[in-house]
Amino acid sequence: KISYYNGEFKRDNEISVDYNDRAFYFGDGVYEVVRVYDNEFFTLEEHMDRLVRSASEIEINGLDREKLIDIITELKEQNSIKNGSIYIQVSRGINPRNHAYPAGAEPVILAYMNEMARPSHQMDNGVEVITANDYRWLKCHVKSLNLLANVMEKERAVRAGAHETLLHRDGVVTEGSSTNVFIVSDGVLRTHPANHLILNGITRQEVLKIAEAQGLEYAEKAFTLEELKSADEVFITSTTQEVTPVSHVDGEKVGDGAKGRITQKIQEEFDQRIH
Ligand code: PDD
Repeated sequence: KISYYNGEFKRDNEISVDYNDRAFYFGDGVYEVVRVYDNEFFTLEEHMDRLVRSASEIEINGLDREKLIDIITELKEQNSIKNGSIYIQVSRGINPRNHAYPAGAEPVILAYMNEMARPSHQMDNGVEVITANDYRWLKCHVKSLNLLANVMEKERAVRAGAHETLLHRDGVVTEGSSTNVFIVSDGVLRTHPANHLILNGITRQEVLKIAEAQGLEYAEKAFTLEELKSADEVFITSTTQEVTPVSHVDGEKVGDGAKGRITQKIQEEFDQRIH
């Protein structure tokens, strides 16, 4: 496999990462995950816009968007993976550990590609989720490398035999540890508004476009844990999970536990957009 680190494409086993990369010490950087379907990037422009925006939110300025695109395009070509995902991260740079930004350090880019199939089984059968308190920082709209809370809360799901942890602030549901979340209640699709409390998922935005195109009633309006638990349908979204129905919340069935009608409709249109 060919990957990229700090200016060079190399075989995976020939890459050595600098231990003074601030990504290690501080999680001082941002990242994206982009999907490739049948050799084509999916929603590349949206991901690159968000990467540059996330970087500028943490004061990493002047990223060359075209260069970022060139790197991942080259990765896609060199690895000849038809269906996969690309991870790309930008750290503030390499410098001996010191909290303050290093003067003159150049951002360091790391990128690699993995083969990845679509999550068909879970898209048909749904997944179980648990819920937990959202104690993350107040810049969740930044796709930061700092994912300690997300990692710990995902682990709670795994230990509970579930797939994802949905987070809430004082009973108001925000998003999952690595996904956005939607409910359908009385025919209305709802998800948390895109503010500093969630990552504005590219898949989330795609689902809202689909809702608009399909004439579904929808609202970017937060909902409570009680509304989550009494919803007719619940699904989570992300670049890797696509549109995945939720069958159980904290062990209780959502509706009759099977994939809902509106979830199905959205999945069908999502399929169309991929191909
Ligand atoms: N996670 N919310 C959080 C906290 C996320 O980490 C992600 C994505 C999403 C969904 O965003 P998108 O639809 O743009 O993928 C929402 C990626 C896939 C990850 O960390 O692997």
